[in-house]
Amino acid sequence: MKLAIGNDHVAVDMKKEIRAHLESKGIEVLDVGTNSTERFNYPISGYKVARLVADGAVDGGVLICGTGVGISLAANKVRGIRACVCSEPYTARLSKQHNNSNIIAFGARVIGIETAKMIVDEWLKAEYEGGRHQTRVDMIAEIEQTQHLRAAEEES
Ligand code: RB5
Repeated sequence: MKLAIGNDHVAVDMKKEIRAHLESKGIEVLDVGTNSTERFNYPISGYKVARLVADGAVDGGVLICGTGVGISLAANKVRGIRACVCSEPYTARLSKQHNNSNIIAFGARVIGIETAKMIVDEWLKAEYEGGRHQTRVDMIAEIEQTQHLRAAEEES
């Protein structure tokens, strides 16, 4: 399994710990940064990780900023991305089982490292259930597609 991980300046330490945690499980981790505590705009790493996931270069992504909000908002602008912010493992599990989340996000200012590890572990263990959930996931994709078509029409 190969995952991409990205963060902003407030989440460097947590990112490093989560990266080591994933690697200790034999997971290959592609770290898009940042590894500096200099102010860093979270949409950059949100987009990089989302692109890798959407292109199929990795099996999923982990994003961490102060709250997990900004970085997941950026990732969710990429077509095909379902990035979910979680502060506890239950939502992380359900986000995979029901929403087929392909990126998990959380906040270094919100949760501690042990909760972050539990979130990641629960998310990795969970499997998408499909079935009735597929209808809703398809509806989300349809909204995305409609918006892209509308934008293209407006441009032409
Ligand atoms: C950075 O100060 C902070 O805004 C960022 O880490 C994140 O919480 C944004 O959603």
